[in-house]
Amino acid sequence: MSTYDVIIIGSGPGGYVGAIRCAQLGLKTAVVEGRETLGGTCLNVGCIPSKALLHASHMLHEAEHNFAAMGLKGKSPSVDWKQMLAYKDDVIGQNTKGIEFLFKKNKIDWIKGWATIPEPGKVKVGDTTYDAKNIVIATGSEVSDLKGVEVDEKTVVSSTGALELAKIPKKLVVIGAGVIGLELGSVYKRLGSEVTVIEFLDAITPGMDAEVQKVFQRTLKKQGLEFIMGAAVQGVTTKGGKATVTYKLRKDDSEATVDADTVLLATGRRPYTDGLGLEALGVAMSERGQIKTDDHYATNIKGIYAIGDAIDGPMLAHKAEDEGMACAEGLAGQKPHVNYGVIPGVIYTHPEVATVGQTEEQLKDAGRAYKVGKFSFMGNGRAKANFAGDGFVKILADKETDRILGAHIIGPMAGDLIHEICVAMEFGAAAEDLARTCHAHPTYSEAVREAALACGDGAIHA
Ligand code: NAI
Repeated sequence: MSTYDVIIIGSGPGGYVGAIRCAQLGLKTAVVEGRETLGGTCLNVGCIPSKALLHASHMLHEAEHNFAAMGLKGKSPSVDWKQMLAYKDDVIGQNTKGIEFLFKKNKIDWIKGWATIPEPGKVKVGDTTYDAKNIVIATGSEVSDLKGVEVDEKTVVSSTGALELAKIPKKLVVIGAGVIGLELGSVYKRLGSEVTVIEFLDAITPGMDAEVQKVFQRTLKKQGLEFIMGAAVQGVTTKGGKATVTYKLRKDDSEATVDADTVLLATGRRPYTDGLGLEALGVAMSERGQIKTDDHYATNIKGIYAIGDAIDGPMLAHKAEDEGMACAEGLAGQKPHVNYGVIPGVIYTHPEVATVGQTEEQLKDAGRAYKVGKFSFMGNGRAKANFAGDGFVKILADKETDRILGAHIIGPMAGDLIHEICVAMEFGAAAEDLARTCHAHPTYSEAVREAALACGDGAIHA
């Protein structure tokens, strides 16, 4: 029987980052993980493998669409799907082994197996019970069910099955125009599938700035993705490896069907806390199945904490990481703080979409006086050279004080560009602070500066 200062349950971005921070701060730390490899959903079947497939399929798209114009002649590459999956698996392996290395380096014990919490201060894995002064639940999330849709991970898949399909489908139907549906829909469109996305609402990517939503959907349509909007999926039937999706149009309640070789269910995720024994412990949960915590990630049971997808807030790896670090620092006696107003969101399609802070709609609803600085990538020399002129940077700033309130980017490397705005927001910067910061030429980031200039006397290249 061993005693730990902290046992973290789950080794995803929240759990493993929290564990490393605990160890760095001198706490004796263990992580319980039942998967064969560390890293949770993100590294094994989420963020990382999907980015490998997005990268490979984007390379194909570039070869097919832009190489000839640059004087790069020759036959376009063909897809060796088995090799593409092997490349993706290799990327996963490199990342998960990297976490194993970091655990060894930081003297963090990996307890292999699935944990239960029989009582506060104790974690049971298999037949062994470990003592822990503090327990952190970082068990993440799982795919939400949709009535009438049974995921078999072959014909009807979740994001997990979509990352290892036996072959590239001729026809893919995606249920849900959220982040997962659009990222993976893009992958298969580029690899040659016919892709139809069915979305319940009238706009894609709910909650995003409406102007970005519109341009984003138009861009995806140009790439060949088809959309059925305002449609509630009623069910999916399968026969002989084929599927039929039935949906109802919200405007007139009419029903229709669409056939597919593969259906991807991407209508959201829910907290995963099964088997931990939380009910018996009396851990308070929300109606949506999230573990309730205070500002220090403490549950209502002394010594039990929770972070990441299992608690309230956006289900994002980097949000979980920040909470993991903050929770660890709190346990070590520090006074950490996560600024939930500055958590970027990124969709890794091409072009990428990135957003931070408030949308124009939120500012309007709050009756806040604001100004908009916008700049199109068409006016950015680097973007023109790289066939990346689609999209724009939009910065929202307070009308009186010029303080940056939000930013929304659709365009090349948007997911990286957003961070200078995040840093600026953390420092409470005004748009003019960004505008007066020298940006190297020629870079995509000049578009960010131009949008900041557009909040004042005007962009130069507009
Ligand atoms: P989501 O919540 O982003 O989108 C789900 C979509 O499905 C919504 O647009 C919703 O209106 C629609 N929908 C729900 N029921 C429907 C029905 N019956 N018929 C048609 N449409 C329906 O969920 P998603 O894409 O599954 O992602 C899950 C979580 O994972 C999200 O919280 C997301 O932020 C996270 N994630 C983040 C990534 C990133 O940061 N790049 C990548 C992948 C996932």
